[in-house]
Amino acid sequence: MQVIFKVFRQQQNSAPTWKTYVVETAPSSTILDCLNKIKWEQDGTLAFRKNCRNTICGSCAMRINGRSALACKENVRSQIARLNHDFGMKDGEDKIPEMTIAPLGNMPVIRDLVVNMEGFWNNLEKVTPYVSTASRNIPEREFLQTPQERSQLDQTGNCIMCGACYSECNAVEVNPDFVGPHALAKAYRTFADSRDDDSENRLEKYNEGTQGVWGCTRCYYCNSVCPMEVAPMDKITKIKQEILTKKTKQDSRSIRHRKVLVELVQAGGWIDERQFGLQVVGDYFRDLQGLLSIAPLGLRMITKGKFPFSFEPSEGAQEVRTLINSVREQPNYHQP
Ligand code: SF4
Ligand code: SF4
Ligand code: FES
Repeated sequence: MQVIFKVFRQQQNSAPTWKTYVVETAPSSTILDCLNKIKWEQDGTLAFRKNCRNTICGSCAMRINGRSALACKENVRSQIARLNHDFGMKDGEDKIPEMTIAPLGNMPVIRDLVVNMEGFWNNLEKVTPYVSTASRNIPEREFLQTPQERSQLDQTGNCIMCGACYSECNAVEVNPDFVGPHALAKAYRTFADSRDDDSENRLEKYNEGTQGVWGCTRCYYCNSVCPMEVAPMDKITKIKQEILTKKTKQDSRSIRHRKVLVELVQAGGWIDERQFGLQVVGDYFRDLQGLLSIAPLGLRMITKGKFPFSFEPSEGAQEVRTLINSVREQPNYHQP
């Protein structure tokens, strides 16, 4: 069969272009096979990373039809099925399938499909992704774990540092401080390791500002694109649960945000925005700077007639309370 590949091409310091190649291939061929065919038979100047060809090394991550994935994992058949499903193309349409291949996002292009991953690696380093045994009395020969302790690490241990999650992360795109889903998944892996003895410091670090877990916007993209099913967003949620269990509302604005939100929704069925601003940003009138920062917004809302001077609880408030309580009764629920 024939497949058209529209491939992103860019040299450093020059404008990007798209180049089209027609490839004779089979439905079972991987996208990496097709790129190799282009490079070996049509255009030796095309640059992309690859190594294991077997979903192990993480080198070949790129955007395939608008979604970050491993080129050696995706094949022509699965991509055509996805295009048919996502973009409403019909099976059997008498038309040559077209694939769009682009570099990972959130990282500058070095050349064609090769990106500079320096920021990705630097951000990983920021979470101190090593088991700390500094103050431990290390056994002479081995540091044993029970099978259950080891099983806590299985899912995050699958990460191959491919960068697909980082490429799709909305928080990384808008917040240069946010360390990214790969780093926080690794942070959880280290935190959950029974051999680590630095849990308290780690939680403090991951709790800081919006560089750690509170920077995540919960868009779910990292979970959906990860080729190894590491589910970084779920790991971020687990770290947040640990922090919320140990910290009070006065410890930080991020923690107040989460706790006050639940309290207000529980009280009124939805959020009383006036209380939300005063309690979260103003820290119950303790944070004058915070209060002053939202004053201009309040004034603008008043002048435009949008300030809610009163609050009406939602008609479904009781139902919302019941829902919150039933979530809290779940066996694995962590009390914030
Ligand atoms: S978490 Fe998944 S997507 Fe992110 S770097 Fe690891 S393997 Fe890749
Ligand atoms: S869920 Fe959070 S970490 Fe994952 S991609 Fe979205 S913003 Fe980034
Ligand atoms: S080439 Fe190693 S993961 Fe694709």
